[in-house]
Amino acid sequence: MISASTPFSDNAAVVGLQWGDEGKGKIVDLLTQQYDYVVRYNGGANAGHTVVVGDQKYALHLIPSGILDASKTNVIANGVVIDPQKLLEEIDGLASRGIEVGDNLRISDRAHVVMPWHKQQDALMEAAVSKARGDGNKIGTTGRGIGPAYADKAIRSTAIRMGDFADREKFTEKLQHIVTIKNAMLEALAKLADTTYEPLNADQLAEQFLGYGEILGPHICDTSHLLNDAVSFNKRILFEGANACMLDIDHGTFPYVTSSNCSSLGIYPGSGVPGGRLNRVIGIMKAYTTRVGGGPFVTELDDEVGNRIRERGREFGTTTGRPRRCGWLDLTVVKYSAKICGVTELSVMLLDVLSGFDELKVCTDYELKGSPLESFPSNADVLDQVTPIYETVTGFDREITECKTFDELPKAAQRYIELIEENIGVPVKTVSIGPERTQTLHRS
Ligand code: GDP
Ligand code: IMO
Ligand code: MG
Repeated sequence: MISASTPFSDNAAVVGLQWGDEGKGKIVDLLTQQYDYVVRYNGGANAGHTVVVGDQKYALHLIPSGILDASKTNVIANGVVIDPQKLLEEIDGLASRGIEVGDNLRISDRAHVVMPWHKQQDALMEAAVSKARGDGNKIGTTGRGIGPAYADKAIRSTAIRMGDFADREKFTEKLQHIVTIKNAMLEALAKLADTTYEPLNADQLAEQFLGYGEILGPHICDTSHLLNDAVSFNKRILFEGANACMLDIDHGTFPYVTSSNCSSLGIYPGSGVPGGRLNRVIGIMKAYTTRVGGGPFVTELDDEVGNRIRERGREFGTTTGRPRRCGWLDLTVVKYSAKICGVTELSVMLLDVLSGFDELKVCTDYELKGSPLESFPSNADVLDQVTPIYETVTGFDREITECKTFDELPKAAQRYIELIEENIGVPVKTVSIGPERTQTLHRS
């Protein structure tokens, strides 16, 4: 008998604390066996989560990383923006590798749809704004139509949700007026950007997307109902954050962010599961810092050290293949993100990449015009002007990818982890020393 006083099950979240690509996919995959549901609550196909199992490498964009365990239910909740074509490609890609996607994938009928115009709008907006400003400055989006899809969600009258595929007639009708508006917008943007656009045909798009809707139909349901039922039956839910806290539209380095709440704060609106149901928030951080796209990056290394980190860490985007910008670990960023996300434990990833440096630098504070800052700057221009205060620590020479316990790590590597703990005030429970499942050190 479930009563109001039944304690909530042990739900958890995995969230990125930097600018993405921290290794969330690896940790979600490792944790999946402890949970019944794995839930994506934000972002879209801008995410690229890598899971390595033996000699197999999977790159997941829309489907939660729990999909590799056939006994779990994976949910793409209402806060995600879904590109049906990309989703179907992902499903087919998994099926061709023996990973069946059936009842184990549920898609929210409230999730908004990324349509082809959103991808055109994404590219044209970047080009038009950059041209209008005349400075070549861009957000550097993934081009996946994420911002325009969330913008239409806010605008409402030009939005499409996954549930809309159920009514063929209404959907076809809706597409007519949206396409009229979108063609006018795309034409104007293309003119501003001094480029061309691909005119949209409402009838052709209706047929194409109703086809996708038909295939995806069996997966589409009210996922907030599903998840709240799961909570009341004491099932265990793992929320998989996409993107990262510094890319959060409210709390990140605006405007160089994505368009959703990718901190743990986005879980509640993005899934329909209310606050208070979460008792474990695992903050994922690299042992250094990377960023893709534009925006401030205080500890960026535009030199040989940065190149070495990029090469050793294979720091090239999972989604776009772009080289990632690399720099020293910025604990000011992590401290801020850990606070916003309510992190209860940390996983430090890619520590192996730092082997071979005589010394390592860690930014522990910022100064602005010679004075310390009281809080993390909300303004990207201010962040661009701060000076990092570095602590220099001894590096470690030997490769660590074969270590089996934390104690086997070189003392300097252990000290590096302790330095992180001391600065953030949150325990580091996991240290990752390679992409594989086995290359993970657990600490009590
Ligand atoms: P996510 O978006 O946060 O899931 O991270 P990505 O998958 O985009 O990027 C992380 C990359 O680092 C992937 O290629 C992982 O396979 C890899 N990776 C994860 N943990 C480690 C680690 O400890 N060491 C090394 N060398 N690679 C890792
Ligand atoms: P995962 O989940 C790294 C970045 C883009 C760009 C900015 C806005 O793999 O960690 P968008 O297309 O979302 O409008 O782009 O956000 N970005 C990411 N960077 N990893 C991600 O996801 C990202 N998702 C968005 O590079 O700077
Ligand atoms: Mg990624």
